[in-house]
Amino acid sequence: MFTEEKWFSCFGLLKESRTRNLKVAEEIGSNNVRMFSFNSLKSATMDFHPSNQIGRGGFGVVYRGILRDGNKVAIKCLSAEESTQGTQQFLTEIKTISNIKHPNLVQLIGCCVEANHRILVYEYMENNSLATALLGSKGKHIAMDWPSRAAILLGTANGLAFLHEEAEPHIVHRDIKASNVLLDAKLQPKIGDFGMAKLFPDNVTHVSTRVAGTLGYLAPEYALLGQLTKKADVYSYGVLILEMISGKSSSKVAFGDDLLVLVEWTWKLKKEERLLDLVDTELTGYIESDVIRFIKVALFCTQAAAHQRPTMKQVVEMLSKDVNLKDNVFDRAVHVSKTISKSSWKLHALDTDPDITQMLPR
Ligand SMILES: Nc1ncnc2c1ncn2[C@@H]1O[C@H](COP(=O)(O)OP(=O)(O)OP(=O)(O)O)[C@@H](O)[C@H]1O
Ligand SMILES: [Mg+2]
Repeated sequence: MFTEEKWFSCFGLLKESRTRNLKVAEEIGSNNVRMFSFNSLKSATMDFHPSNQIGRGGFGVVYRGILRDGNKVAIKCLSAEESTQGTQQFLTEIKTISNIKHPNLVQLIGCCVEANHRILVYEYMENNSLATALLGSKGKHIAMDWPSRAAILLGTANGLAFLHEEAEPHIVHRDIKASNVLLDAKLQPKIGDFGMAKLFPDNVTHVSTRVAGTLGYLAPEYALLGQLTKKADVYSYGVLILEMISGKSSSKVAFGDDLLVLVEWTWKLKKEERLLDLVDTELTGYIESDVIRFIKVALFCTQAAAHQRPTMKQVVEMLSKDVNLKDNVFDRAVHVSKTISKSSWKLHALDTDPDITQMLPR
């Protein structure tokens, strides 16, 4: 039975935790993150009107919103079921993420933590995501020439290299895919959702609840053994390169008579020395050697043995410099259809030097 005393101590605890949360919120408010009231976001989205819904992902629904100052934002309402994390921990994580700034990462503007609402407010990206712009239905499709595709890939690689090597603490994204690469009005790419892995405990991540949806991007050691390292992101990034070059979605399209997935298909084309067959038929006027270099980088990234994949910093170097990537490595590389053996093959990426970090201009 609840005595009066117990009521008071219970109330005392609640009050104490609310005061603590308010303190964190105030602290956050004085940082780069704005605390929004639920009502302000409600009016920004016209009461979360369906016409303002831009999409739905594993974490909840995303709305377009216009703030009172006229700024356009993307408002992501995290589904209640998955947002059971304590308010304070949630706010602390947001503080970390909001302090991470890079031109190729979507900026978190603020959040709303009221009752059981957990809402994130991001800068609005005019051209939605690569999933809609490049791989989406005809109506939303944006024609992209090779220079734009190459620039998007390089920008994305830069963003990921920053998360892996410069952000404090270092961040493994875990869900690199076309719908998480957003495009601004000038088609500059920005990686979204890079803090989501931090905002949820392991057992409620999108990946573990909807593996099938992102399987086309998952590194074998992560999908099968749950081993998560930066190299899992590198693998997914390799898949993204192949999607950008082929204009086809890795998780939706099967290739050839054997209905191979995109990565397998590319390895097959490599073996048959017809890599350029991968290229999107909509893509004309590209420099063949450039495209081939990008495909080779994708092959390096999608090797089955994680330790053989390059780091994202090395990827940036390989993509941005006109280097000659040695490709006889691929005859020896164990790729995804084979067993995930702890292969001792050493990656010889470049023509004259076995060290992948040493780039030799052609
Ligand atoms: N900042 C933003 N600006 C514009 N559109 C956005 C923004 N953030 C997300 N979107 C769009 O909202 C949709 C849903 O995004 P969301 O991140 O919730 O799901 P997803 O990327 O499909 O899957 P995941 O849950 O794995 O991230 C996507 O199509 C995305 O393009
Ligand atoms: Mg997303």
